Amino acid sequence: MNAPEAALKTAAPPAAVPRERFAADWLASREVLDARSRSHCLTGLAAGWLAARTHAHGGPVGIVDLGSGSGSNLRFLASRLPGPQRWRLVDHDPALLSLARRQAATLRDPDGARPRVATQCRDLAPLDEALLARADLVVASALFDLVTRDWAEALVAAAVARHQALLFSLSVDGDWAFLDAAGERIEDDEDRAVRALFQAHQRRDKGLGPALGGDAPAVLAAAMAAAGYRVESATTPWHVAAGDPEWLPLAERLVHGWHDAALEQAPEEGGRLARWRQRRLAGLAAGELGLSVGHRDLLALPPLPTGGA
Ligand SMILES: C[S@@+](CC[C@H](N)C(=O)[O-])C[C@H]1O[C@@H](n2cnc3c(N)ncnc32)[C@H](O)[C@@H]1O
Repeated sequence: MNAPEAALKTAAPPAAVPRERFAADWLASREVLDARSRSHCLTGLAAGWLAARTHAHGGPVGIVDLGSGSGSNLRFLASRLPGPQRWRLVDHDPALLSLARRQAATLRDPDGARPRVATQCRDLAPLDEALLARADLVVASALFDLVTRDWAEALVAAAVARHQALLFSLSVDGDWAFLDAAGERIEDDEDRAVRALFQAHQRRDKGLGPALGGDAPAVLAAAMAAAGYRVESATTPWHVAAGDPEWLPLAERLVHGWHDAALEQAPEEGGRLARWRQRRLAGLAAGELGLSVGHRDLLALPPLPTGGA
């Protein structure tokens, strides 16, 4: 689906499909790791483009954050993008949006001004006018593994029709691996089998239809490039070093999550999966293993000069 008109008609998923929910403490625990993994280069390019764009239209920078959760994107970007800024955070979870609003009070743009922050509690589907309205830049982080190919392509088409730039951070690419004490990737047949089950689980319906999972970065980049945008891409993996106590709880939580997803895919493999989990958790706890999780940041810029959004 390429035409923006078609994009705006993307249907809402059937009501029976459960929506994906994320615990606030999980989002908080990953925020620092996200911040150190993000591409500062792509953030700087987005800031430069926005400065030129707002110089042309004279108003505040309009930014919409899709699947904003508790506002991690806002907290990372507010001091790095030019001001004055007008943000709209969109998510279907009112509790996360409420956290985002509370934490926004202390944020400042590079000129020391407080960004204006509004929240919109709604589903990302249908992808209609209200989703992208009044934005120069569309941002999202850790979102696109959950959406369908149609939704992602429709989003890009709708943003292109409005000459909006796109900064999509920390999209998982489906890869993860354990690292030895020297930081070298190690894996055995059991790791590969669990990862394959996990990747299949990522492609299950997360509320919008069959999910992109680890294909998201490639699908997005192809859609952006086909639209004639300048596309910049950076690998932004999480790296947790072996023996780093600060990140042990998060690493353990990841292993439990991989195990649980694999078990849902292959309930008959319960014993084997439990043994794998026990062995890998022991390696993490002993400081012998770290891990990496593949992510990618993408920035897509329309040519300047542009019209209004
Ligand atoms: C992995 S979290 C990422 C949150 C935030 N962007 C971050 O980086 O911390 C995905 C977010 O997308 C939201 N989300 C998932 N599916 C959604 C849907 N169909 N409509 C609206 N929000 C959705 C979730 O509530 C959650 O806040």
